[in-house]
Amino acid sequence: MTVQAHIVGWGKYIPERVLTNDDLTHMVDTSDEWIRTRTGIVERHIVAEDESTATMAIEAAHEALEIATLRPTDLNLIIVATATPDHLFPATACLVQDALGATQAACFDLAAGCSGFVYGVGLAADLISTGNYVNALVIGAETLTRITDWDDRATCVLFGDGAGAVILQANGSDGGVLSSVLGADGSGGDLLYLPAGGSRQPASHQTVSEGLHYLKMKGREVFRFAVRAMPAATRLVLEKAGLTVEDLSLIIPHQANYRITDASAKALGISKDKVFSNVDRYGNTSAASIPIALCEAVEQDRIHRDDLVVFVGFGAGLTWAAAAVRWSAPLPTAPLTRRKKIWYALSYRYAALRSLVRRFVRWLVARFTRE
Ligand SMILES: CC(C)(COP(=O)(O)OP(=O)(O)OC[C@H]1O[C@@H](n2cnc3c(N)ncnc32)[C@H](O)[C@@H]1OP(=O)(O)O)[C@@H](O)C(=O)NCCC(=O)NCCS
Repeated sequence: MTVQAHIVGWGKYIPERVLTNDDLTHMVDTSDEWIRTRTGIVERHIVAEDESTATMAIEAAHEALEIATLRPTDLNLIIVATATPDHLFPATACLVQDALGATQAACFDLAAGCSGFVYGVGLAADLISTGNYVNALVIGAETLTRITDWDDRATCVLFGDGAGAVILQANGSDGGVLSSVLGADGSGGDLLYLPAGGSRQPASHQTVSEGLHYLKMKGREVFRFAVRAMPAATRLVLEKAGLTVEDLSLIIPHQANYRITDASAKALGISKDKVFSNVDRYGNTSAASIPIALCEAVEQDRIHRDDLVVFVGFGAGLTWAAAAVRWSAPLPTAPLTRRKKIWYALSYRYAALRSLVRRFVRWLVARFTRE
């Protein structure tokens, strides 16, 4: 029996604070008109001081678990796709695991830029098909505004923060993730990158004073790459699944710029209403953009059972990725009962307590044992 990976849970977290185009006009030499016409962005959300990639990822994971009605201990795998992890190590996925109490899960972060979430879905589906994993949580989460140069008008108007998650589950029935394609061209690495803070240029007074901890981008070249990569990856993933563009119900593309998604729709010969867009309200949230858009597509009744949905992304690396999914989860989802809500709240409290006890025991062992 072949095992397919089905999406059984999804969730998102959007930080509260909104930064509008008008707000940006007080920070750099730009205009609402320029940003809207060149990108389609009207506003974006920005993390609060006490929030981070992990805290947003955890909130998105809560929603996904509750929709899937799974216990955190049912998860065997957690992948966090991000370019803005809380730390270089430990992996943000481990922070998520600890907060959820997902004690049976293998955890790692995935760095594939804005394609990261789709890379995660493709990898998790392949791992599930081996029979070694049953429930995989794939999260895209970013705090891009923490690596944004707020004096650089060419980039600071583009990005926002947020997180989205899905749970993929092994199932013998047809549907779920039908195919995926993951690609990269490292020769374009310098088109979108963060110069300092890694082993090539470790943090120093000089790197900080030169602003090398902010992302740098050659926008026009990334644009040219994106309008080629998105339709090509979409066609390829459909071909791999034995399907064509005519079979498509909805494309959920990486939300970077409405001109890129419009050009992709044109290249594929499909109408714009088959391409989901919410870039106007969130800007580019990198690896988080596709799962956030997926959640909104579900909320807006744009996805139904048996629909063929394609996720397609492009980003730093350069990377690109697409996944074709036959939607199998029943919609609308049943609201959580009061009892279930209490159960989840208690289980997260228990996870926090467990973490505290384990830290305390480690402290005790270190204090009272000698080599
Ligand atoms: C960034 C992007 C919106 C710029 O649009 P563009 O049409 O290519 O604009 P250009 O970079 O050619 O700049 C055009 C002019 O606008 C100016 N400009 C740039 N940012 C501006 C801003 N925020 N406000 C006003 N003017 C701006 C430039 O200085 C330039 O002026 P010049 O002609 O006098 O030199 C577009 O290239 C893009 O979306 N690229 C892809 C980026 C992306 O998706 N990145 C994430 C990948 S995951």
